[in-house]
Amino acid sequence: MAVREIIRMGHPVLRQRARELTPEEITSPGLRDLIDDMVDTLAASGGIGLAAPQIAEPVRLAIIRIPGGPSRYGEIEEVPLTIYVNPTIEIRDAEEQGFWEGCLSVPGLRGYVERPRGIRVRWQDLDGQPETADYEGFLATVFQHEFDHLDGRLYIDRMQDTTRLMFEEEFARYGDATAAID
Ligand code: NI
Repeated sequence: MAVREIIRMGHPVLRQRARELTPEEITSPGLRDLIDDMVDTLAASGGIGLAAPQIAEPVRLAIIRIPGGPSRYGEIEEVPLTIYVNPTIEIRDAEEQGFWEGCLSVPGLRGYVERPRGIRVRWQDLDGQPETADYEGFLATVFQHEFDHLDGRLYIDRMQDTTRLMFEEEFARYGDATAAID
């Protein structure tokens, strides 16, 4: 178990399509070791999600852990630490909603991104068994952001208005004023 380096925008692995994990790999000790590293790395980063490509492992695997409770996005539902193997997303409500996103691989920046507001996620657990869950609101954005990493996509690719890309310090000072314009 180890805290791994989180690679940053510009590293080619962040722009690859990650490959599916095979049934043999899903139940292997090697995958447990990789997940342990991802859990340690996420905890050390202070983030809420981490995709395997962000530690230069181009496989379709992500972990999410959301504390829940009140936030500037309103009351957020808790998501206990969950491991998503070979996840897919189905859009259930295509109406778009916007949030200011950040990314451990694009440190120091925030950008306003609009995405569908309701999704169904399907994935495999560590026994290879299928799982399903539906998410709305902020959580729908979190999952779309994380799973985009498995397709070599970053949130900045989804931005419609790059004037709403800011450094965190400027976002803290001006971001909400900008958000209030529309
Ligand atoms: Ni990210």
